[in-house]
Amino acid sequence: MSLDRKEIAKRAAAAAAVALVEDGHRLGLGTGSTAKWFVELLAERAKAEGLDLVCVPTSLRTARQAQAAGLKVVTLDEAGWLDLTIDGADEFDPDLNLIKGGGGALLQEKIVATASDRMVVISDASKQVEHLGVFPLPVEIATFGWETTKAIVEETLEDMDVEGKIATLRMDKDEPYITDNGNFIIDCHLRRLGDAEELALALNMIPGVVETGLFVDIADSVIIGYEDGTTEIL
Ligand code: 5RP
Repeated sequence: MSLDRKEIAKRAAAAAAVALVEDGHRLGLGTGSTAKWFVELLAERAKAEGLDLVCVPTSLRTARQAQAAGLKVVTLDEAGWLDLTIDGADEFDPDLNLIKGGGGALLQEKIVATASDRMVVISDASKQVEHLGVFPLPVEIATFGWETTKAIVEETLEDMDVEGKIATLRMDKDEPYITDNGNFIIDCHLRRLGDAEELALALNMIPGVVETGLFVDIADSVIIGYEDGTTEIL
């Protein structure tokens, strides 16, 4: 099977992350097309080397893939604390702040990454930005009173140093997209967000907001994969 260039880049980043895994590790497994490569390559290595690993997936999708590949899957509470989480991102900036949640798994991704000694992001180079915000910021919200919550989010954005201010309900065909936790997602089309921490705090103060896809001070490093199969670590 020949891979397109983007897939070569994602696979290269994932392969470099697999090399960070040690026997006995408790691992967080991210969600998305790059994390999918990680799970596949991790399972191959674990099998070949007989590694004793426990894995906490961040979505049903990843749980199914990991189980099918023969990895030992447990809940976060069973694992307690994790040595390392590997996950993709939609954008990362020079301070390693992230936008995540394009795949809808931001809540569990943030809980799992926060419960880890180390979070390593794997990405192709297209996600690297000077300023976060071109990728729409996903915000997970409760379904109860969602229109009111969305209106308050928009009002809050009005008061913040951001460029765009439109929030749209994420759809899955003709129905609202439902997260693994039974919530909705609104995507905030900001173009450029100002202070990431300030924005995350303001949004998290709104009742009805469950979590935002802004990961501030959570990632420890980013492995960038390139289309020639090489990698770089930030
Ligand atoms: C899912 C995520 C993903 O990590 C993010 O969307 C990147 O996905 P991909 O590797 O497919 O580009 O945050 O909620």
